[in-house]
This record gives sequence, C-alpha cells and structure tokens, in this order.
Amino acid sequence: IPVDDFDLILFGATGDLAKRKIIPSLYRRFLAGQMPEGARVIGAARSELDDEAFRKEVREAIAEFVSKPKRKPEVIDAFCERCSYIAVDAMGDAGWKELHDSVRDEVCKAFYFSVAPGIFGPLAKKLREHGIACENSRLVVEKPFGTDLETARKLNAELAASFDEHQIYRIDHFLGKETVQNLMAVRFANVLFEPLWNERYIDHVQITVAETVGVAGRGSYYDKSGAMRDMVQNHLMQLLCLTAMEPPNRYDADMLRDEKLKVIRALDPLPLSDVVRGQYKEGDGHPSYREEAENEDSLTESFIALKVGISNWRWKHTPFYLRTGKRMSRRVSEIVIQFKETPHSIFERDNGSQANALTIRLQPDEGIDMSVTIKEPGPGGMRLINVPLDMTFADALDGGDEIPDAYERLIMDVIRGNQTLFMRGDEVEAAWAWTDPIIEAWTEKRDRPHGYAPGTSGPEEALMLMHRDNRRWRDLD
Ligand code: BG6
Repeated sequence: IPVDDFDLILFGATGDLAKRKIIPSLYRRFLAGQMPEGARVIGAARSELDDEAFRKEVREAIAEFVSKPKRKPEVIDAFCERCSYIAVDAMGDAGWKELHDSVRDEVCKAFYFSVAPGIFGPLAKKLREHGIACENSRLVVEKPFGTDLETARKLNAELAASFDEHQIYRIDHFLGKETVQNLMAVRFANVLFEPLWNERYIDHVQITVAETVGVAGRGSYYDKSGAMRDMVQNHLMQLLCLTAMEPPNRYDADMLRDEKLKVIRALDPLPLSDVVRGQYKEGDGHPSYREEAENEDSLTESFIALKVGISNWRWKHTPFYLRTGKRMSRRVSEIVIQFKETPHSIFERDNGSQANALTIRLQPDEGIDMSVTIKEPGPGGMRLINVPLDMTFADALDGGDEIPDAYERLIMDVIRGNQTLFMRGDEVEAAWAWTDPIIEAWTEKRDRPHGYAPGTSGPEEALMLMHRDNRRWRDLD
C-alpha cells in the first residue's frame, strides 16, 4: 500500500539501532517502491557531519545489514539522494533553526527518537519551542520507556507537553513481527479457535523467547535492566496480552489497546515463589554474564521464568508460563497453547495420543502449527500418532519473497497514521505497575539469580516451576 510524502527526522541517526534496523528498513521499503517521490530522511544527531559523511554511514549500514540480493548499487545511490543530515544539540540551540527551515509543513513529519530516554523530554520540548512540531507531526519513541512506573509516568508527561497521545508511537518491535499479527488473524478470523480459547479447554500457555547471544557490548545498559525490564515488561507482556485479550469490536488502535490494557489490569500480583531468575555462567567458549556486564558482583538476571495468573472469567485456572533468557541453547520465540486432554479416552491406555497444542512460532521459521492426533496409517490396529498441521508462512508467500522486518512495517504504519501496533501510554504504565513490586521485592532481599550453563535451557529451578504443577516446558532443541 503506497504512503503519502513524508519527512522522517531520525534523531540518533549515527547510533547503533539506526544503523542495524532503521536505515536498512527504510532502504528496503525504498527498494520495494513504497517510498514516494517526496519522501525524505533527515538524519539528526550531535556529531558534526555533512550530508556526504552521513550518506557514507547510510551506505555502510546497508552494506552490513541488508542481504546481498537486495543491495542494488543504483537503488542505493537513489536512496542516498533522499538522505540528508543536520547536526542538532538536544540541550543547546545548535541546529534547531536549520531543522525548522528544512522540514516541510505540508507533509507528514515523523520525528523518530532513537536516542537515550533521558533526552526524549528535552527533544520534544525543543521541537515545540522551535515551532517544528505541528498537528501533522508524529513522534516515534524507542524502548526502554522508563525503568519503572514513576519514570514512565514522567516520560509520558514530558511527551504529552508537546504531542497528543494520537501523535505518539511507542515502539515494541515484537508487535511488528509477522506472526504476532497473524495471531490476531488466527484468533479472530476463524471460527475454529475462539470457542476453545478459554480455561475450559486450555490447560496452560507457554511463552518462550530464548536467545543465544549474551550481553557483550551492551552490558552497561543491560545490567541495570535485566530480563524482566528488558523483555518481560514489554515484549513478553505484549505477546501475553494478544493471546489473552477479548476480541475487540474492530481492528482499531484504541479498541485493541483497551482490550490489552484490561488483561494487564487482570494479572495477579507475582509472588516471589512464582519467579525464577538466572544468570549465565562461563562456558561453551563464552565469558560469564558478570564478565560481559563488567560487574563482578552483579545480581541482575539474564534469564527469567514466571508463572502468571489472570483473574478473569476466561483464564481463571489457566496459568501462563513465561521464560526468556540470553545464552540459551537455541534462538526460538514461540507461544504454545497447550489444550487439555480429552475428557475420556475410548482407546486403550498408552495408545500414543497427546493433548492438542497450537504453536505460534515467531522465529525462526515464522508460522503456526497445530498438533492433532490421528490413527497411524496401516493395518497395525488402532495406534494413534501426533502429526502437525503445519502453516509455515514462508511457504505461503510467492517464491522468494522475504518476510519484511518488523521495523519496515512499523515505520510505514507511522507514516500511515496507524497506531494499532504501538503501545499506548496507559498500557506501558500498567505493565510497569505490575512488574515494579516484584522487582522491588527481589532487590530488597538481594535475591541472587541461579547460575546456568550457557547453551542450556536455563537453570534447573525453572524446570521445577512447571514440574511442581505436573507440567513441562517445551524442549528448545
Ligand atoms: C530488544 C532487547 O528489545 O529485543 C534485546 O533489548 C533483545 O535484549 C531483542 O535481544 C530481541 O529482539 P529480536 O527481534 O532479535 O528477537
């Protein structure tokens, strides 16, 4: 779908996220023909660069982070023509007049804050003071959105002084992933699942986001956050909400976010006994967490597993188990809906049947599969086997098309003015209100995370979290 002309002003244009995600995503949309003639990218940061020096950085980002078949020299040249640069100082006056003169009032102006959260407020203020932000403007902010309820409230208030809520796009890039949107299609565009989507038929839900990387290179940020703040409060919370929410009346930004908010407000407070924190040790050729984070006494978790209850009619007796961690055995993100056993089996015991499970895979191999039990083909009697009804999205795409990166979709949604896949201020605050007490509880206790060997599925204690309920985690391998 084409979009209107726009000026995208990228603050933090020389930073890591701009290089790894934002610039490559804009280039891929340009290549796909989705950036109209009048679309421009204006890099803004503190460094004193000129347009040519910035374009050189743009080229480097494309060379490093765009796949080879998509790196077409003439397209890269044309894309660079659209890019320019202005040095601005968030705390001083340098660059603001120039920025004011170069952005166009008649097109959509998207200000993308890919900068430290500490300067969100000052930047928003400058945009207002210099008359750069207007009714036609949109503001995109990256995570982390605060570090607790208090800081998130303060940030929301700072942004609200310059922008209305309908102009603010808080990024959670998990919402831009193909499968996450497909989860809504599966739930609300089929008659098959919704009648079963409740505590009567679902035994439990497992949400796993396992990564093989460590924290090297970003230890100073990560050590102050840990897995709870870095992943659970945002990404896993969003996955939980989309799985658990009631159907909104329409696929509309505020209706959908109202439903997500209701889920967060229905979450039971977390007791310490339902949380397992872990920290990776040295091994597998990698240094320990503490070494990578450069903090030999660190009590920060690089892994966390939780059992979460939702107190509403739909989910009262169906727990949601969440886990996420670094340096685990495999990179996998998935949501598993584990259905209950049939109420009674007419077949002999040990016949091979298993309860149904619906697996929503975010990565790798984005797709959804449903395990069903059928009779093993052949004359051997009534032996039952489990087979997957598999829907891998790549198979459903026309030959060779890649699934677009989450950022490509999200940036284009900003230009279109569609907030559906962005978090609303009250949602972020409610999520912090839920995570704050447990973080405070373990900080006060000086709770020590359990050590785990790299390349595993986390500490043994995390297995116990499910074993004690007679359940088990899905194998990662
Ligand atoms: C980020 C976290 O938001 O998401 C990182 O800060 C994490 O710690 C990353 O590695 C995971 O994103 P993806 O898209 O690679 O699964």
